[in-house]
This record gives sequence, C-alpha cells and structure tokens, in this order.
Amino acid sequence: MSLRSFLEQMGTKEEVLHVKDEVSTRFAISFIMKNFDVEGPILLFEKVKNCEAKVVANVCGTRKRICMALSINQNELYERLREAWRSPQKPKIVEDGAVKEVVERPDLAKIPVLTHFERDAGPYITSAVVYAKSVDGSVENVSVHRLQVLDSKHLAIRLVPRHLYKLWQVTKEVGKDLDISISIGCHPAVMLAASSPVPFGVNEFDVANALMGGGLRLVRCEHVDACAPAEAELVLEGKISASEEVVEGPFVDITGTYDVERKQPVVEVVGVMRRRDYVYQALLPSGAEHRLLMGLPREVLIWESVSKVVPKVGAVNLSMGGSGWLHAVISIEKQLDGDGKNALLAAFAAHPSLKHAVVVDSDVDVFNVSDVEWAVATRFQASEDLIIIGNVRGSTLDSSANQETGLTAKMGVDATRPLAKAKEKFERAKIPVSKRVEELVRKLPSV
Ligand SMILES: Cc1cc2nc3c(=O)[nH]c(=O)nc-3n(C[C@H](O)[C@H](O)[C@H](O)COP(=O)(O)O)c2cc1C
Repeated sequence: MSLRSFLEQMGTKEEVLHVKDEVSTRFAISFIMKNFDVEGPILLFEKVKNCEAKVVANVCGTRKRICMALSINQNELYERLREAWRSPQKPKIVEDGAVKEVVERPDLAKIPVLTHFERDAGPYITSAVVYAKSVDGSVENVSVHRLQVLDSKHLAIRLVPRHLYKLWQVTKEVGKDLDISISIGCHPAVMLAASSPVPFGVNEFDVANALMGGGLRLVRCEHVDACAPAEAELVLEGKISASEEVVEGPFVDITGTYDVERKQPVVEVVGVMRRRDYVYQALLPSGAEHRLLMGLPREVLIWESVSKVVPKVGAVNLSMGGSGWLHAVISIEKQLDGDGKNALLAAFAAHPSLKHAVVVDSDVDVFNVSDVEWAVATRFQASEDLIIIGNVRGSTLDSSANQETGLTAKMGVDATRPLAKAKEKFERAKIPVSKRVEELVRKLPSV
C-alpha cells in the first residue's frame, strides 16, 4: 500500500484534478492549492517549472478521502484510530523497495519544494514524516515536521518539545547527532499515524501498519541508522545536529498567521533514496489537510475524555474556522443539567490547545456552523451557561495568546437545552410532508 496506489484508486473515483499547465514552485502552486482548499480535490501538477518531478497536493484534504484511504465509513473513524493506537502492529522490514530505485547524493535544489506565502523565509517541506530512534534503540518515534530549506544539503527542523525533541535532547547529551529518515509521499495512513499523539515509546509506523491492516513495509536507510516506508516516493536521510541551530521562520502555521521565529536545530542531509519517477507531496500550511491531520486525532482524544463524564457523546468537530485546532463543537446526549459543563471541562483537559468549545444536543449537526449558531441562539444563556477560565495554558499558535508562555483565556459555551424547561420549547418545527411532495421536490431542477 502506497501513496501511489491510493492516487490510482482516487483517480478512478474522480477525486484527482490534473493541472497540465506549467507552474512554479514559488507561490503559483500554493495559490492554486489555496483556491481548491476546502473540500477540494487532490491536485496533481504535471509540469513543474525547472523540475522533472510532479507535485501532488491535498491528498488528505477531506474526511471522506481519509476514510476512503482506510476503507471505512466516516462514523467508524474514531474507533478505527483508537484500535490502531491500542494495538499497533510491527511492519515487516524488507531488503528492497520502490523507494530504493535511485540512491543518490543530496541536492535539495532538484526537489520541487514549495515557497507558500509572501513572508515565508523560503521553501519549506511540509509533508515530511520523520523517523528517529533512541541511542539504545529501545524507543522509535515517527512524527510530522516542517523543514526549512537552508541550502542544497541543509534544513532547519521545527521541534515542538514532544517526542522527537526528547530523542534529540538525549542524543545530544551523549554528544551525538540524531539520525533521521524524512519520508515524503507516504500513504495517508502513515500521515495520520505520524500526526497521532500516542505515548512516548509507541512507534507510529506500527500504528500506521495497524491502520493499513498489515500493509506497511519498511526498508533500512543507506546512510543513517533509520528506516522508512519501502514504498514512499522520496526519502531524505539526515542527521539532526547536536550543536548547530539557526533562526527558523518566518513561516505560516495552522492558524494562517505567521508563527514566531525561534532558534531550531539544523539537519544535514547525507543521502537521498527515491523512486525513479517520484512524485513530490506538497501540503498547504493552514489548509484543510493540515487542519484535518492535526485535528482529527485530537477529536478522538476529546471524544474519549468527554465519554468518561457523559454517557453518550455524538460527534466532535475541531472546526475549520477554529483552524482545526482551537475551536471544538461537541454533541452529547445530556442526562442531567450540568453534563454540558462537565463535557466542556473534559474537552479542555483532553486537548490543552483548545481555546473555545461549544457543547450542543445530539439533534444539532456539529459540522454545520449555522446549526451550531442556532443552538447558541436558542438554548444558551450567557449568565448561566458560560465558563471562562483565565490564565491557563493554551496554544502558542494563537496570536491573541501570550506566545512565549502559551497563557491564554478559554471559553466554554453550554448550548444544550435546560432540562428544567419543557422539551417542546426547543423543538425544531417540522412541516408534514407526503411521499408525493417529497418526490416532487427531488425532481425540481436546482437554480
Ligand atoms: C502538517 C503537519 C505539520 C506539522 N508540523 C510540525 C512541526 O513542524 N513541528 C512539530 O513538532 N510538530 C508538528 N506537527 C505535529 C506533530 O507531527 C504531531 O503533534 C505529532 O503527534 C507529534 O508526534 P509525537 O507524539 O511522536 O511527538 C505537524 C503535524 C502536521 C499534520
């Protein structure tokens, strides 16, 4: 199973839009990506200026496509992810794979890395799946990281203090650089697994393999002590420097605003493995794909946490307007007044970056902004149903927060109907309809 086989499958389902005109990696491709972002197709750029490789974008850009990649219905998604997190399966390591068709010396200038936004520091790799292991080999980790191209052999890697950062710190303490593989052009299950917040010690390649029903194969790298998907399009073999750091950025993150500039470690690229006709995978920062990959696994955490305090939780939506990260809408079946507020507290505990959350009843569609607003308009009283928590740790990506300390204010809105009032008062009025009129409406042309 590979990105390539998934693209073939999506081609037959008319999910791929081919862009045949020549386009430049500097702003032109990202502008087109932005224009097709929300619920848009996969984009395949066939002619890239000054480059032989094609560029594919927006692969995981819709929930529907992510579910198609996992061969599941949308209502099975959370359970499928939870199962893979709970029961990861080791993939087979094979001697050879399509990614080793060409093994060559690094020259990043040959790769169609995009420059996305006006004030970006330069070209950035944005779909990179980074693998590393601990000095003693007991811990393996895979996560997605942005990489700024510094020159033909060097990148700057953004390390949020999580698992890869921890591996880097420990390796640094023994005075060594950290070997990594940087895989570009992986199956969506690999992207989703690498974006998943599983505990330190769980290898996300094992999670990906579980999601793929045992369909992942890995190869060992040629120049570093790391492995990578055997059917990836392109793998950069690198070493995160123990000593060399540079100022990384400016660069646009998930909110669509520029992240603050920070000192981040340098990666030396020491080798390249690739398919002969590799396709480079692009991902638009702050686009729907970025938000879905980051947000979906957090929706699962929120769902799990709220399920512990409320008997029945429907859907969770880390909404696009909230950048797939800062705003959640959660539907519950409330048993007692107070359940709504407990649900809000559980959601904030599950996803520390969450800033605003709205809890609604199960008759409200969490994916429909108008429906949610209607619930707030008709079921919410600010003097009773609002929670505000000041000076709490949130996301440093939010420009309105303190971006150094991450301190912010959070707001929870309980828009469930109060049980003390008659249910009928909150009912949505219905119009009785016969089969004949239903059929008549179905046949009327849309204008
Ligand atoms: C498109 C995309 C870009 C990301 N960029 C970064 C990044 O530059 N640095 C980072 O630390 N995390 C980044 N993340 C988030 C991590 O990949 C994610 O939190 C992951 O679960 C962390 O892995 P870990 O639990 O093994 O630490 C990105 C995620 C996605 C989907």
